[in-house]
Amino acid sequence: MATVTTRKVVKSFGNVEVIHGIELNVADGEFVVLVGPSGCGKSTLLRMIAGLVDVTSGDIEFDGRRVNDVAPRDRDIAMVFQNYALYPTKTVRQNLGFSLKIRREAQAEIERKVDAVADLLGLTKLLDRLPGQLSGGQRQRVAMGRAIVRQPQVFLFDEPLSNLDALLRGRMRSEIKAMHQRIGTTSIYVTHDQVEAMTLADQIVVMNGGRVEQIGSPLELYHHPVNTFVAGFIGAPQMNFFKGRILSQAGQRVADTAVGVLPFDIDVATDDGREISYGIRPEHLGFVAEGGFEARVKLVEPMGAESLVLAEARGEEVQVLIRDESVPLPLPGEIVRLAPQRGKACTFDAVSGCNLVAA
Ligand SMILES: Nc1ncnc2c1ncn2[C@@H]1O[C@H](COP(=O)(O)OP(=O)(O)O)[C@@H](O)[C@H]1O
Ligand SMILES: [Mg+2]
Repeated sequence: MATVTTRKVVKSFGNVEVIHGIELNVADGEFVVLVGPSGCGKSTLLRMIAGLVDVTSGDIEFDGRRVNDVAPRDRDIAMVFQNYALYPTKTVRQNLGFSLKIRREAQAEIERKVDAVADLLGLTKLLDRLPGQLSGGQRQRVAMGRAIVRQPQVFLFDEPLSNLDALLRGRMRSEIKAMHQRIGTTSIYVTHDQVEAMTLADQIVVMNGGRVEQIGSPLELYHHPVNTFVAGFIGAPQMNFFKGRILSQAGQRVADTAVGVLPFDIDVATDDGREISYGIRPEHLGFVAEGGFEARVKLVEPMGAESLVLAEARGEEVQVLIRDESVPLPLPGEIVRLAPQRGKACTFDAVSGCNLVAA
């Protein structure tokens, strides 16, 4: 196993810089997820770590050793892509063992390793099939097995589950997590899906436009997003944002926002009149008899374990997630009062988008 470090890594294609000096520290055995919208540079960064793309400037280190000039095959990594190209004319067994055969490992050793990996991934009964005789999920499992069987120092995953349907994606996600818990190999995993990031990662790296916005554990990012980008990206349904200003009213700090006056119960030194964006997650809004702000219900989406209520307050769209089944759901057109739970709001500077409470 290994640590992976990137130091001020920059990548330009021609004269267009797409990665602007990224610093990462992946600890030995850690599962790190790079997440961000399409085009933010996740694959490019991963491919530089793999050695498939040259670094324009900066360094990539494995265990403190600079590997910029080390060929991919000598970096002791295994990569799993979205488009898992299996050899179509080789059986599952041959696909799994191929890299070991190339390495000229002994036949008995190859068989032992292939059997162990097949067992780990539930592929034992499929070993003699061809890829064309497998489902999408099974094929993806073979691709995963091909990476595992090599026992690399580092796993690199690039959106490996994006081609699968939702159910299978969830199941494979659990399998990847269980596999990591068992074998503990340092892993860097790229996805645009924040749910995948939240469920898999020890550390999440939120990227945007070739830069890192925030690095932290899933719950750190959820509870203490450093800016509106991270706050909006992590968590679904998305955090509500209301423009507003901080005021003092009857000796109390309040946030005078687009939907009404809301409590400002955050311990942060800031001047009255400061322009803010008031962030509150849908699950942290609830119905109240008095106080809060008034909203008109537009749509109710019952999902069983929880229900999403879409409402409108003074022209602003508001999403409310109700998780308490004992709460009666309102009807479309109904006027309700909504209030944020104490201490759950985030306040961001209106201009910079930075959280007023430094993370
Ligand atoms: N080979 C390439 N040549 C030119 N531009 C590229 C190349 N590969 C990626 N890019 C650009 O780099 C940026 C980051 O791309 P990518 O790393 O694929 O993003 P992501 O994986 O986050 O969707 C994009 O603007 C993309 O168009
Ligand atoms: Mg990509």
